[in-house]
Amino acid sequence: MKVGVIGYGSMGKMLLEKLSLNSNLIDEKLYVANRSYEKIADLAKEYHVCHSNQEIAKEVDILFICVRPINMKNVLEEIKTTLREEQMIVSLNGSITFEQIESVCKNKVVKAIPSVLAEINKSQTLLCCNALVNEQDKVTIKDLLSGIGSVIELPESEMGMGSELVSCMPGFIAAIFNEICLSAQKHTSIATEKIVQMVLNTMIGTGQLMIENDHSYQEVITRVATKGGITEEGVKVIQESFPQVSDSIFEKTLEKRRQTALNAQKAFKE
Ligand SMILES: NC(=O)c1ccc[n+]([C@@H]2O[C@H](COP(=O)([O-])OP(=O)(O)OC[C@H]3O[C@@H](n4cnc5c(N)ncnc54)[C@H](OP(=O)(O)O)[C@@H]3O)[C@@H](O)[C@H]2O)c1
Repeated sequence: MKVGVIGYGSMGKMLLEKLSLNSNLIDEKLYVANRSYEKIADLAKEYHVCHSNQEIAKEVDILFICVRPINMKNVLEEIKTTLREEQMIVSLNGSITFEQIESVCKNKVVKAIPSVLAEINKSQTLLCCNALVNEQDKVTIKDLLSGIGSVIELPESEMGMGSELVSCMPGFIAAIFNEICLSAQKHTSIATEKIVQMVLNTMIGTGQLMIENDHSYQEVITRVATKGGITEEGVKVIQESFPQVSDSIFEKTLEKRRQTALNAQKAFKE
């Protein structure tokens, strides 16, 4: 099977590196194309370097399009006459709809939203397929993406919120625990690196404990925060103050997502 990537940015580069390493479905070098050719010109040893989006669209069976939403329409317009019916397009963007893509190309379309954790093969990747994608296609694309972590399928209407929960979440988690480390620093002379290490290892261990023992968040709280104890005091503060913060996070991000979708819609109407 021939697989290609349009867009050699953060996501495109990561996918190229990971897919070629992890998949045995891919039986030859991956294909790559990018708007600025100079960025990929020296990659001929690793990939088939294409000079245009039409060239890559002609060659591959599955085409990952890893460009910003604002550039998606242009890319689709460039390749629409080259694409064959059986080819699958994979969009990495949660804001661009199937309807918008199908208004240009009548192909099998998959939306796949990985996270930065793909770098260590731990991405919780989201998947959503248009009506032309059959069960065998789904097996193929899930197999490809399983090389970067696990895959969960969602309806198109939930891809926005789903993206907040997997794609934005590493940033949210880092921001929350950074604040916790900064607060801890005010009350101790323990070196910052040691605080970070302690919190980080405890955070990872808590996640592993939950997965291995099939614990809910509440079960962990109950085990650690004994009645009248010290942990209970901290948990109470979090339960009283944090709901406003987390509500606000999703209100802001979902509003930003709506704006991004509107901008993409404008680009598709132009
Ligand atoms: N970053 C994340 O964590 C993440 C996670 C999940 C999903 N996504 C989604 O993945 C997509 C790509 O994001 P990114 O972070 O990889 O963006 P990025 O780093 O800005 O890379 C975009 C790439 O697309 C290329 N490009 C733009 N227009 C093109 C065209 N007409 N033809 C060919 N190549 C073109 C750019 O080329 P130049 O070299 O000329 O600029 C650039 O290399 C976005 O839709 C984003 O929402 C991102």
